Amino acid sequence: MFLRNAWYVAAWSGEVTDTPLARTLLGEPVVLFRAGDGAPVALEDRCCHRQLPLSMGRVVDGGIQCGYHGLRFDAQGRCTGVPGQSAVPPGAAVRAYRLAERWGWVWIWMGDPARADESSIPDWWFMDHPGWKVVPGNGGRPIHTRSNYELITDNLLDLSHVGYVHPDTIGSDNVVNFPVRTERKADRVVMTRLMPDVEPPPFHRMAGGFEGNVDRWMIVEAALPALIDVDVGSAEVGGGALEGDRLQGIAYHALNAPTPETATTTHFFYAHARFFRTDSAEMDEVYRRDFYRIFMEDVAIVEAQQASLDRNPAAEWIDINVDAPGLAMRALLRERIAAEAAASAEAGAAIRNPRPKEIRMSAVVLLVELKMEEGRRGDFVARAQRHRELVLANEPACRRFDIVVPDGTDDVVRLYEVYDDQAAVDRHMQTDYMAAYRADTGSMVADRRIVTAVLANE
Ligand code: FES
Ligand SMILES: [Fe+2]
Repeated sequence: MFLRNAWYVAAWSGEVTDTPLARTLLGEPVVLFRAGDGAPVALEDRCCHRQLPLSMGRVVDGGIQCGYHGLRFDAQGRCTGVPGQSAVPPGAAVRAYRLAERWGWVWIWMGDPARADESSIPDWWFMDHPGWKVVPGNGGRPIHTRSNYELITDNLLDLSHVGYVHPDTIGSDNVVNFPVRTERKADRVVMTRLMPDVEPPPFHRMAGGFEGNVDRWMIVEAALPALIDVDVGSAEVGGGALEGDRLQGIAYHALNAPTPETATTTHFFYAHARFFRTDSAEMDEVYRRDFYRIFMEDVAIVEAQQASLDRNPAAEWIDINVDAPGLAMRALLRERIAAEAAASAEAGAAIRNPRPKEIRMSAVVLLVELKMEEGRRGDFVARAQRHRELVLANEPACRRFDIVVPDGTDDVVRLYEVYDDQAAVDRHMQTDYMAAYRADTGSMVADRRIVTAVLANE
């Protein structure tokens, strides 16, 4: 299960153009493109007509046209036109996701759109500061990795591995002699390892021209869900770097955003921002070529771990001291995912209060039983709850709207709705908020059964 109310990197800005880009994120197929005004758009990659991926269509007039029968959808996912007919069928829409564009990346929010808060995107200001030089990882495309994304977070929060995995470049075996400090904050974990007066690793010696020892630092800040800033470098011994003045010597950040594609595959986005030799093409090339190789050394490790986990998922993990930051981050993420699931389930279970009305003997009763796609019940219930509030606020003819989350299943939700008459039901079906609700929840529902009962006066 993934944390849904969080920002993930969906693409490099340069990847999103007027040609549709198909990318599966958190297990959901998404199509990304730029609308007429240049703003990025992300929609569910599934036409609501006959389910062709919309990414097989083309971008037209700021929206996308399905490549099968030509239905058009706007940036909000609403169907705006059906070839050969004047009316768009009610409910014709697909889910649209909230996006933000920052630090050269397009960020996506796959949970409740009302909770998307751009201020929770990490402040990686050095990514567009003129004093820093940024080299996009892998030429501005994610590395597709056959591993769970948390293995990458573990890897970056435990840099004791550099001596073993990257001995020729950034590794040195003295790293493990310095203990790590682990700080757990509300939404992040910070690992600090300060190494005073040590021999620099080969890359730092080469890049900084150091002749003797250095003060070396590794400060890794991992923010939820998996946004990892690795602040590393070396400077002259005693020059204040270890006290916080790190804009000296060889100072660089590796920014990492492993976005889950599925539970066992990841789109691994990364970039380097450096504060030294910023106009050196030679250094740019080192980051482009040598650091790509270093990242691929890590990718080989996490993919081999995943293969081993796939063979034996129940194998016990023995922990050692250097695991402390990674374990803290895993615990933080688990807690947040559990809280998200509990909040959605609770919200659903609590909504059962009828609207008081005078007793009338005629009514139309809708009983809707929905079977959810795996892991989507919480999202659906949160959405249905907002929909219910709109219905009760706008439709006096709705006498009752209960959302029932039955015990003993993890994928069934029942809706129990009572309206004055069929005309009220028809009116309800034509509202904009009904279309938006359908668009938002379409991908969550695997199966739907509707029983309509008409209770008439004697
Ligand atoms: S499947 Fe998309 S228009 Fe028919
Ligand atoms: Fe590494």
